[in-house]
Amino acid sequence: LRPIQRLFSCPGTVAAEVKREEQSSGSVETGSEDRTPKKKFSEVQKERRDQAQRTVLIHCPTKISEKKFLKYLTQHGPITNHFFYESFGLYAVVEFRQKESVSSLQNATRTPSMGTETAVPFRSRFFSLKTKNPLNPTSIRCSIHSPPSSKKLLELLCYAESIDDQLNTLLKELQLTEENTKLRYLTCSLIEDIAAAYFLGCTVRPFGSSVNSFGKLGCDLDMFLDLDEIGKFSASKTSGNFLMEFQVKNVPSERVATQKILSVIAECLDHFGPGCVGVQRILNARCPLVRFSHQSSGFQCDLTANNRIALKSSELLYIYGALDSRVRALVFSIRCWARAHSLTSSIPGSWITNFSLTMMVIFFLQRRSPPILPTLDYLKTLADAEDKCIIEGHNCTFVRDLNKIKPSGNTETLELLLKEFFEYFGNFAFNKNSINIRQGREQNKPESSPLHIQNPFETSLNISKNVSQSQLQKFVDLARESAWILNQEDKDRPSPSGSQPWGLAALLLPSVMNGVSHAKKVRKKPASERIKNLLESIKSNGSENATSTDRK
Ligand code: CTP
Ligand code: MG
Repeated sequence: LRPIQRLFSCPGTVAAEVKREEQSSGSVETGSEDRTPKKKFSEVQKERRDQAQRTVLIHCPTKISEKKFLKYLTQHGPITNHFFYESFGLYAVVEFRQKESVSSLQNATRTPSMGTETAVPFRSRFFSLKTKNPLNPTSIRCSIHSPPSSKKLLELLCYAESIDDQLNTLLKELQLTEENTKLRYLTCSLIEDIAAAYFLGCTVRPFGSSVNSFGKLGCDLDMFLDLDEIGKFSASKTSGNFLMEFQVKNVPSERVATQKILSVIAECLDHFGPGCVGVQRILNARCPLVRFSHQSSGFQCDLTANNRIALKSSELLYIYGALDSRVRALVFSIRCWARAHSLTSSIPGSWITNFSLTMMVIFFLQRRSPPILPTLDYLKTLADAEDKCIIEGHNCTFVRDLNKIKPSGNTETLELLLKEFFEYFGNFAFNKNSINIRQGREQNKPESSPLHIQNPFETSLNISKNVSQSQLQKFVDLARESAWILNQEDKDRPSPSGSQPWGLAALLLPSVMNGVSHAKKVRKKPASERIKNLLESIKSNGSENATSTDRK
């Protein structure tokens, strides 16, 4: 039996998630039949944020009685949800029904006395539980927050029934779990408490793959400090003859303001933020950020400010991910394939990013006949007055209610789409064309970067400007090779059972491609021999984690 937490992935109603699970287990091929009402991105964000504000994080002794622990905490009010996890110690995430319970617990908590060192007093929602007398410990079920090893994953893929089943299995194994999503929102909420010490009423929102439905277990936590709500509050009080303004300090530009704000938050995190370590200030980047590690949750965090457009692009990806069940399955497999072949990396550089790969998949799905995904321009035509959104002069309007978008009539299988994806990009005219999900068709490249993917909202920006010609070539070579392998398998496919790597599993093996020359050698061998060699290499690479945690 699969642990229950694997049943539910990130945002959406439980009913919708269960439905998605049914689909991904192979009973339904496309998402077009899913009539379950889907939640708006803003509704999911609000619900998760409210939950996080009623939640506390507790470092526990390893030997603990779960029942007594919960009984002790219910003194402060009813608990609606809790789970344990391990990360250099045992932690509990406890969600109270009411916010007041958190204050009650804080009021009953003391600041530790430290012996030779001195504690900086800070009343956060991150606690440490001590036990005076030994308890009768009970065995505690800990939720899993890291992806399965590549060996385990390859095994699961080898035993799948079809390539479609393989893609759905990969999605199920790698997607964020309900608990991991809760922990991400809680971490943002804990950081918000620290930032609020300076900027009362600010909000720290997660964005990127933590919320756009394409997040893989272990992905970084992108968050941004939103000060807009503070501005709105003062604007609502400007009626009548009088106008009251705050006395403020002025700085030369928005960028300088962002740098100064992030700089003080970095100081706070560094000096007073419980669990925050390795704080780096990367304030001269195009998008200034503070990078740190939130040790207790295990997340690598990137905190930016003034980044509403990125939140909007997360919302757009969330919509694309929810429109059809094939989208996420394909994106996860392509990302995993790219990671296995070092096309993406944990270190920033001239490689393709996961964000660019997601855009490529979306574009490819817009190009199918009939299209599986609508263009951004079409989503804009469905928008009503309330959806209107202009950020820094950029039109970010699109329909936010998913239920207004008609499902696609396309019934292509994931197997076909995977193969066609590799063929499409293996033969794409990257030298002259740009990828554009706004219009859903190729455009002439406006500049000479090897790979040009237009930012959907800041249309003058190329989201893959960093990608070098050699990295693009590597992507093209691997795409062609993968298309070839899938086509070969079609011709003399071994029955898809047992431990032989086939289909998606064969594409994920790191040893498949070692440059074109090796690929050519592989090509000459009969498929049965090739698969035998792959099996050998899976054994020898058994301990290596080819799908290891992605970091930016
Ligand atoms: N982003 C952007 N333009 C870029 C890079 C990033 O607009 N050139 C925005 C996107 O909204 C992206 C978010 O910043 O989703 C976070 O970037 P990143 O962490 O690189 O990508 P993720 O989508 O979060 O993917 P990963 O799982 O690799 O972190
Ligand atoms: Mg990210």
